[in-house]
Amino acid sequence: MATSAFPPFRVLLSRDQILRRIHELARAITEAMRGEPPCLVVVIEGARTFARQLQKVLPGQLPLHEVRASSYGSGTVSSGEVRLTLGQDVPCAGRDVVLLEDIVDTGRTIAALQRHFAQKGARSCRVATLLSKPSRRVVDVALDFVGFEIPDEFVLGCGMDLDGRYREIPDVVVYEKSVEMAFQRAAAAR
Ligand code: PRP
Repeated sequence: MATSAFPPFRVLLSRDQILRRIHELARAITEAMRGEPPCLVVVIEGARTFARQLQKVLPGQLPLHEVRASSYGSGTVSSGEVRLTLGQDVPCAGRDVVLLEDIVDTGRTIAALQRHFAQKGARSCRVATLLSKPSRRVVDVALDFVGFEIPDEFVLGCGMDLDGRYREIPDVVVYEKSVEMAFQRAAAAR
């Protein structure tokens, strides 16, 4: 029997579901832009997979610009402040920016990025996110294009990771430590 490369985590959203929804998002973004190509800005790392999939189905092979936003503060609890450590040079002045996110959780990252691009002279700054967890919101942010609203579960795959692992899982899955440990035990016994 073939062995999977990943633990059999519960699938929340299948790859097919995701790809179908990305086509719908691409259509909605195209309509909203009224012929003006947007400046696509990917919030890395997690959003890379979603951004590439969206780029493929949007007309015109638009370039993907990258920003990295990091929460900072001491200890394991975020201070709630976000700073940009990559992407100061995105050519956004006078343009309609669309931020591409894998997930919006508290909303802090997106709120900070919207402030940043407004300051840099973007004409507008919309948000397209594959996932949103509304129950976790701390900052009230308007999301223009949402793939799926999901419950407050620890999700992985489709670009989202746990300490750099599992980004390659094509579905969005729910992480469970017990599933991971059973998989690791079975692999060690082989
Ligand atoms: C995730 C996600 C968003 C942010 C959302 O990034 O990609 O950028 O968290 O959280 P918020 O709404 O609470 O601000 P993460 O910090 O996991 O980094 P990564 O994408 O590089 O893995």
